[in-house]
Amino acid sequence: MPRTVLLNPGPVNITDKVRQAMTLPDLCHREKEFSVLMASIREKLLQAFDLEQDFTSVLVSGSGTAALEMAISSALSPERSMLVIENGVYGERISKLCAVYNFNYQTIKLDWGVPPNLNDIENKLKTQKDIEVVSLVHHETTTGLLNPLKSVGELAKKYGKIFLVDCISSMAGDEIDFASVDFAVGTANKCLQGVPGVSFVIFRKKDLDRIIKIPARTLYFNLAEYYKAQEAGGLLFTPSIPAHYALDAALDELIEETVAGRIQRYANAAKLLRDGFQKLNLEFLIPETLRSNCLTSLKLPNGLSYEKLHKKLKLNGFVIYAGQGNLNDSIFRIANMGDIKKEEFQKLLDVLKNAL
Ligand SMILES: Cc1ncc(COP(=O)(O)O)c(C=O)c1O
Repeated sequence: MPRTVLLNPGPVNITDKVRQAMTLPDLCHREKEFSVLMASIREKLLQAFDLEQDFTSVLVSGSGTAALEMAISSALSPERSMLVIENGVYGERISKLCAVYNFNYQTIKLDWGVPPNLNDIENKLKTQKDIEVVSLVHHETTTGLLNPLKSVGELAKKYGKIFLVDCISSMAGDEIDFASVDFAVGTANKCLQGVPGVSFVIFRKKDLDRIIKIPARTLYFNLAEYYKAQEAGGLLFTPSIPAHYALDAALDELIEETVAGRIQRYANAAKLLRDGFQKLNLEFLIPETLRSNCLTSLKLPNGLSYEKLHKKLKLNGFVIYAGQGNLNDSIFRIANMGDIKKEEFQKLLDVLKNAL
């Protein structure tokens, strides 16, 4: 069967090695072999990002939102509040989670694609003493905007706050300065180049005592309980075993390529594509300096519907991605995550030229 190149922001094209890993032997998750696999993944996640010293990791079966719900629901102390910076669907999702858990939370609400003003964040942190956790989406996949993780993290630290980041679509695709990060949420099936079914929270060991003391607010997503079980080599619920096999193999490949190497590969791919888009006179949604390495949002040319463009590209082996919400009728998105060759990106530009 001819290969379809996935230009949606995950699930991504995977390597044959990762695909083959999913056919490893049937396994009972209560057996030693699964404990070894789980420990290997938890360790490799830290190793890949050079975080072994201060951080630990916890795996959860489910999509990225499972790990996000786990981190959000487990990181906030009783009686304290969370600051949420919203400038896309995924920032808004953090607020929705806060609402579901009946948390006190405040938002800095911006139009989609607009980066936050650091003074506004600082004013909130200065005046609202009850804020304990500052949360941010690093790469807002809604638009391709890369939020200023380092500057927001430094502000959070200046005011003694916990910094929680949704790195679901940036981890291993854009550089993450972990110096001020306390909780980082990620998933297997985007820039890590695994498959959907397992996601994770990486967090500081120094936070363990505090989060273990927080009364459980959820049965399925309690980070402290997962941590205790996984440290003991066990787990609470039945995991997606093929997704774990695949993630373990994908992490071997990431460690070999190195995170810096992967980021560079994605940056090169984004540059090749963006130079091509410019030549085709396509209009970008996000200014160059604010774009991630992993996804480009482009305005639909007048008179061309997303459906038509999608169909034409799919017939030629490429899957693109629609805009969300209000942007649904006006933009399309092209991600460059996953195992995609330079020649495939070049071919996409040719096919796109024809389609336009
Ligand atoms: C930044 C970000 N956060 C959260 C999610 C939700 O992930 P999932 O669909 O895997 O639950 C996504 C998915 O694209 C995302 O890009």
